[in-house]
Amino acid sequence: MAAAAPDKHGTTSTTRTPDTGLAQARFDFSARVVLVTGAASGIGRATAALFRRSGASVMLGDIRADAAEAVARDIDDADDPRTLSMGYDAAVAADAQALVDACVHRFGRLDYLVPAAAIYEDQRVDGMTAAQWEHTITVNLNGVFHLVRSAIDHLADGGSIVLLSSMSGHTGGSVEHAHYGATKGALVSLTRTLARELGPRVRVNAVSPGVIDSPMVARKLATGADEVIRNTPLARLGRPEEVASLIAFLCSDAASFITGEAVLVTGGLFMGG
Ligand SMILES: NC(=O)c1ccc[n+]([C@@H]2O[C@H](COP(=O)([O-])OP(=O)(O)OC[C@H]3O[C@@H](n4cnc5c(N)ncnc54)[C@H](O)[C@@H]3O)[C@@H](O)[C@H]2O)c1
Repeated sequence: MAAAAPDKHGTTSTTRTPDTGLAQARFDFSARVVLVTGAASGIGRATAALFRRSGASVMLGDIRADAAEAVARDIDDADDPRTLSMGYDAAVAADAQALVDACVHRFGRLDYLVPAAAIYEDQRVDGMTAAQWEHTITVNLNGVFHLVRSAIDHLADGGSIVLLSSMSGHTGGSVEHAHYGATKGALVSLTRTLARELGPRVRVNAVSPGVIDSPMVARKLATGADEVIRNTPLARLGRPEEVASLIAFLCSDAASFITGEAVLVTGGLFMGG
């Protein structure tokens, strides 16, 4: 039997890598509207692309307005343009309202909300300033509150919210990222409260990624990728598209009896509750 050749990720394996399936993945979101923040990069970008490919109209928000606009153009269908992008700062409550208003004004409805914007700054607690702590809490946690608060009255019956938590929100152990980990743990709790308060009209879940190969963790991966891969049963990093497909599943009717969950997507790096 011929030896397996390294794939494009540098992994030598006889198991099938799911690249092709992911690139083609589709759901049926025809006539639906999704609002995604952090849409200029990584998981937000992959989510916006998958929803658009699956028939949805897509509102993209990001603090980097030009980059969000470039993504909107990139993922859209020139024959049937249904994306809109806007500069949006998760730290500013008025920006959340403006983003939701622009979405409803342009597309006439809102079905799915995916607040993916976040920051991940390195700082141990013993050197952390109050300003550093507060900035992460403001963007990663308060930003989600403002967006959800602005969207609730507009969300269509049968709609869905998917928050971006993290494996660190479950393990609690995010060395050099206490502020980040605290926001992600809080989002698991917020998911459950929202699921109770908004059901049965709207389902609310979270996804909790492990280490996903995106710009957010580029610094960490520069020195730590090998160790992460060694500790991951699936023996590689996750890809933004693999989180996007879980988000799409949770929004879809295939997940019609799932609410209040925070679903891990870690390749087995962390298993547990
Ligand atoms: N990459 C991972 O390993 C990983 C793991 C667990 C959870 N997550 C979560 O997934 C989500 C997406 O992460 P990613 O890996 O795609 O990161 P990313 O850095 O690739 O993308 C984050 C996006 O958020 C935007 N952003 C930053 N601050 C903002 C602000 N104040 N207002 C609006 N937009 C802002 C950035 O411009 C960027 O486009 C985040 O909530 C992150 O915490 C990521």
